[in-house]
Amino acid sequence: MADKKAQLIIEGAAPIELPVYSGTLGPDVVDVRGLTSEGVFTFDPGFMATSSCESKITYIDGDKGVLLHRGYPIEQLAEKSDFLETCFLLLKGELPTAAEKEKFDNTIKNHTMVHEQLKNFLNGFRRDAHPMAIMCGVVGALSAFYHDSLDINDPHHREISAIRLIAKMPTIAAMVYKYSAGQPMMYPRNDLSYSENFLHMMFNTPAEIKPISPVLARAMDRIFVLHADHEQNASTSTVRLAGSSGANPFACIAAGIAALWGPAHGGANEAVLRMLDEIGDVSNIDSFIAKAKDKDDPFKLMGFGHRVYKNFDPRARVMKQTCDEVLGELGINDPQLELAMKLEEIALSDPYFAERNLYPNVDFYSGIILKALGIPTEMFTVIFATGRTPGWIAHWNEMISNPYKIGRPRQLYTGYTQRDYPNK
Ligand code: CMC
Repeated sequence: MADKKAQLIIEGAAPIELPVYSGTLGPDVVDVRGLTSEGVFTFDPGFMATSSCESKITYIDGDKGVLLHRGYPIEQLAEKSDFLETCFLLLKGELPTAAEKEKFDNTIKNHTMVHEQLKNFLNGFRRDAHPMAIMCGVVGALSAFYHDSLDINDPHHREISAIRLIAKMPTIAAMVYKYSAGQPMMYPRNDLSYSENFLHMMFNTPAEIKPISPVLARAMDRIFVLHADHEQNASTSTVRLAGSSGANPFACIAAGIAALWGPAHGGANEAVLRMLDEIGDVSNIDSFIAKAKDKDDPFKLMGFGHRVYKNFDPRARVMKQTCDEVLGELGINDPQLELAMKLEEIALSDPYFAERNLYPNVDFYSGIILKALGIPTEMFTVIFATGRTPGWIAHWNEMISNPYKIGRPRQLYTGYTQRDYPNK
């Protein structure tokens, strides 16, 4: 499969020949696996130039602002598809036929409830715990409840686990919210679509069941679609790494949730709103921009910049449009949105941001929409985790279905050489 060859010349040693592969899209990749037998490792902290796997799921061209799932542009999926169809596409590689879609939707609906005992588990948490802390614990604990789908070498077990995770994540997310709000948990309703059902479980109470607005359900669904997968990001790589040891899928997804929580990754949507609160008024933008540019200040403009996109994040464009639709439907004139727009305008015209290719990312707008939908800030990353679940599972499944090795990076050791324990 090697299309070309590369030569590595290390001073004083014979040249080492390395195979070079070309993917269907993207840069060529030098296969450095043979270096171990030459006694040499590569050094790439943060995986800036390392492909950790071969994958057929998602492609990103960060310079052009392109995101494809199984070849389909994210803009087309956001406009023409829905979340469960996107899940099917990510998991199976092709869009479903009408019959396959109906079957898949029904299968997901048949798994939306969680084990009753999980409620007791939830009761162990403080009510003021961060929802992501509860989410990590509850999703990890699913492996204690669903013993019948833990054999990772059995494709049927893997499929049932995937269905369970996609189906139960909204139920768990809403349970976590209701728990913190001190309200009774709402059971899922199988007559509703995935996103309607999520909004129902979040906002209805046993005392009052209100119909779910189709515009808001569509916006929720689009938020899930836009978060569904994003190639080998930190949380997906964490899921793959955890999975490479043979850990069960629920444990792997819990590991992904933990990695997503950080403010440099999924936690950024929450951080954007906190930042906008802190900025408070358009008149303060300049001082915050100055802080973001100051190398001695750890402050970064949340919702700006991306490891891969060095152009506009294509998800951000769709998110911005959805943002307008939601605010229009709800008749909200949000001063925070105005602040965000002004911040975006000022940052985009500032040479610091232009030179570093720092553009608004998906999290810059998602927080504003989620806030308009009435979702509390602490729940934003939980929503991201719910949307990202099919991507995590698709990558985990792709790895397990093919030959793989336990993920085990090497290091450049710069500590002490061997020394003797002192006589005391
Ligand atoms: N505000 C100010 N300066 C920034 C920002 C920012 N948001 N992001 C990057 N920079 C600067 C950085 O200081 C560096 O400057 P210099 O070259 O002078 O040292 C340069 O831009 C390159 O940045 P980097 O940190 O080397 O880039 P990275 O690829 O390692 O980090 C990032 C990417 C997303 C972690 C970073 O841009 C960041 O922390 N952004 C804010 C958090 C955020 O919005 N995260 C959400 C990412 S999208 C959702 C997801 O997919 O998880």
